[in-house]
Amino acid sequence: MKEGGSFGPDLTAIRDKLISREMDRTGLLREIIEPSRLMEEKYRTEVIKTIDGRFFTGFLAYEDDHIVRLITNVLESETVEEVVKQTIAERRQLEVSPMPEALVNTATSEDILDLLAYLASAGGLKPTLKPNPTSSR
Ligand code: HEM
Repeated sequence: MKEGGSFGPDLTAIRDKLISREMDRTGLLREIIEPSRLMEEKYRTEVIKTIDGRFFTGFLAYEDDHIVRLITNVLESETVEEVVKQTIAERRQLEVSPMPEALVNTATSEDILDLLAYLASAGGLKPTLKPNPTSSR
């Protein structure tokens, strides 16, 4: 079974991307530091405002000529909200990744190398990541 839930790309695929050279380690590190630099289309957040002033935010699950369905709660990707296109007043896509920036800002360089090795091993190598004693939680 996959660990870590289902939100975001499957990070165990990183190993194959490194082997096939679709990604290199510098690129991997950049993805972690600047998640919005390169983003997969399916992870773009849609923001919809309806004529009666309701807002919907989420990933696009389905769209045809009449309706749009959004996954509005990423923790429940089976639950979608449906918006009838005729009721839409505004619709746009965010340029920012839902992945938070600066996740590794409090990590030491050793921790970061450890994390990269862990991702490169598709989770096979267990990281020795310890909480940073200087960071307050
Ligand atoms: C230390 C923790 C994390 C690491 C190491 C990490 C690593 C990565 C990497 C390497 C990618 C690019 C994958 C690829 O192109 O194949 C990625 C993408 C993504 N991550 Fe994370 N991630 C972390 C935490 C998170 C968190 C907390 C969230 C959400 C709350 C998140 C959401 C996403 C999403 C939605 C994408 C795809 C869109 C994009 O590329 O920006 N990640 N992550």
